[in-house]
Amino acid sequence: MSSPHRLTAVDDLSLEAAAAEHAALVAEINHHRVLYYAKDAPALPDADYDRLEQRLGAIEARFPELMTADSPTQTVGVAPSSGFGKVRHAVSMLSLANAFEDVDVSDFVGRVRRFLNLSDETPVAFVAEPKIDGLSLSLRYEKGRLVQAATRGDGAEGEDVTANVRTIRDIPHELTGDAPDLVEVRGEVYMNRADFMELNRAQAEKGDKVFANPRNAAAGSLRQLDSSITAGRPLRFFAYAWGALSEPLGPTQWESRQRLGGFGFTLSQPSELCASAEELLEYYRKIGRSRAELPFDIDGVVYKVDSLALQERLGFISRSPRWATAHKYPAEQATTRLNNITIQVGRTGALTPVAELEPVNVGGVVVSRATLHNKDEIERKDVRVGDLVIVQRAGDVIPQIVGYVAEPDRERAEPYAFPECCPQCGSIAVREEGEVVTRCTGGLVCPAQAVERLRHFVSRNAFDIEGLGIERIQLFFEQGRVKQPADIFTLEKREEERIDRLVSMTGFGKKSVEKLFAAIEARRTIALDRFIFALGIRQIGEATAKLLTRAYRTAENWRDRMIAAAAERAEKREEKKPELVGEAYAELCGIEQIGVSVADDLTDFFREQHNLDAVAALLAQVKPKKYEPPAAAATSPMAGKTVVFTGTLVTMGRSEAKAKAEALGAKVAGSVSGKTDYVIVGADAGSKAAKAQELGVKILSEEEWAALIAG
Ligand code: IVH
Repeated sequence: MSSPHRLTAVDDLSLEAAAAEHAALVAEINHHRVLYYAKDAPALPDADYDRLEQRLGAIEARFPELMTADSPTQTVGVAPSSGFGKVRHAVSMLSLANAFEDVDVSDFVGRVRRFLNLSDETPVAFVAEPKIDGLSLSLRYEKGRLVQAATRGDGAEGEDVTANVRTIRDIPHELTGDAPDLVEVRGEVYMNRADFMELNRAQAEKGDKVFANPRNAAAGSLRQLDSSITAGRPLRFFAYAWGALSEPLGPTQWESRQRLGGFGFTLSQPSELCASAEELLEYYRKIGRSRAELPFDIDGVVYKVDSLALQERLGFISRSPRWATAHKYPAEQATTRLNNITIQVGRTGALTPVAELEPVNVGGVVVSRATLHNKDEIERKDVRVGDLVIVQRAGDVIPQIVGYVAEPDRERAEPYAFPECCPQCGSIAVREEGEVVTRCTGGLVCPAQAVERLRHFVSRNAFDIEGLGIERIQLFFEQGRVKQPADIFTLEKREEERIDRLVSMTGFGKKSVEKLFAAIEARRTIALDRFIFALGIRQIGEATAKLLTRAYRTAENWRDRMIAAAAERAEKREEKKPELVGEAYAELCGIEQIGVSVADDLTDFFREQHNLDAVAALLAQVKPKKYEPPAAAATSPMAGKTVVFTGTLVTMGRSEAKAKAEALGAKVAGSVSGKTDYVIVGADAGSKAAKAQELGVKILSEEEWAALIAG
């Protein structure tokens, strides 16, 4: 990537050489900005990108004549792409200067003090807060209501993402407390690491794009043209700044931050007030140590002069404020040798290639394994056994391989041959058309799948049986004591007279075995959504399990309807229109956010006899609770009704309207059928309104609906 002349110290460059390098750097930086900001697909580690910008800055510092108004040192981001409306920012959205070393921080404090001409005795306070690795957003509130949301874009003009932003739960549609008539709240949209991992797992499972890190996942999720996709993504928001205001929020950064908190925003935490470069560095180190424990990725911390009057005096230099700087942490990347590629078999039979590495320290954690995602990813990165590879901790929990490092004098191994059979059970591995995942076809005969399913079944968000962790379930499986979920609930009975034997065979204490049995007993009644989630059906995560629970209410009803839908689907495999497949199948697809792909995974599951047997055996042991709609719902005119929203609603976003209807006990469907009670029609309603008319379903305008739910 870096051409050799870049290794020349800037001080030794001739003007001619500097001009040539400058032009090359500008092109390279602009290219990477497009990949990063517009395509959400960076090709370079952030730290390498920072180095390009630093080098450009150093060249321009020595040869100011090379600097132009559109140099990357003077600009931020990229101009908005098509697809979204454009928004001109009332106050530009700028970037921050970077500090990397301790001396850069004392330089920053020194620069601030010198600029303000402060005597040694005059204190200056700074706010220090985490620098979240996401994408920045400006939210415009008029009279307390969210009216517009825009991305940063090139700082002057961003993309209008209002519809998508309304689906983010951390972002209030209405401010609480006494807010000025006009407030532009600025902050970062991001994704928690755990949510990112889960999203990637689901994406890989569906054969959809996996994201390189939480930042890309957040950016890719926000910049969707279909806001229902954004709604299904676990986005969050931190507020840390503001743009246009009709009146100031307070005299200091700290107090203004508190005001933002009072309006209902989450602030970037943990933050502190610091009085010197030493205190800032102490904060930097403290946050650095706890970095792995934060639920989200940070790439540094930010220091801001606390007094807004001083901020005003300090002003801006090109694209960043003089009163703030970002202090970055070193990249969590390292190079090491790839010793081998092995294959892991997941719960649903997905074969995942794993890089077995020469152990290496990556940002304080020793890494010896990393995911290679799937066959295409290995091919795309062209990594081969024996290569020197770059390892990155991005989602932190599972490290990734970024690529290999060329070693011209070393002969490389042959490209990796992806196995054609499951390495665990020998069954054929297939890759369905249009899918990226290769799967073992062994189903329950594959021990790897069976044990993974059991591990999923007892996991925290599923049955969560105290004392039955994944190690124990693995042991029980290997001993043949528990082969399928129902066996957990017959364990005590089968082992009754042999509790001592269980104690001696497993190495658990007697007390612990008794406690385990009590914990198992306690789970014989369980929430229906946990029950559904625990079955480990492809694509059925917690959110989808909740949707199914609300729609079908009891385990037996759900199962029976799924069996009916499966039978209908078996008859009409290729049919794309759910209503032509059959009534039970159409009902399933009619649930908002459930599409044909999810419906097919459900019906595939219910077509397999061994799955039906496993569910029946389980239902003989446990009683999932009947779903009861929230109490407020019972008396509401919406209770038990099926409603469909169509067109653009004016008074609230689609997700808010949906949530309101559901809270009142209604079922929100995605398409109009004979079972629909009401169709609520917003502006520009299309075929659904026409269909409702055709079927004689009651149509409500947005105002009529508002009146109905108001009482
Ligand atoms: S303040 C005028 N505070 O980092 C400067 N930015 O590299 C306003 N960022 O564009 C930015 N966490 O997208 C600020 N606590 C924080 C931040 C933060 C993340 C992002 C923001 C900014 C970029 C600069």
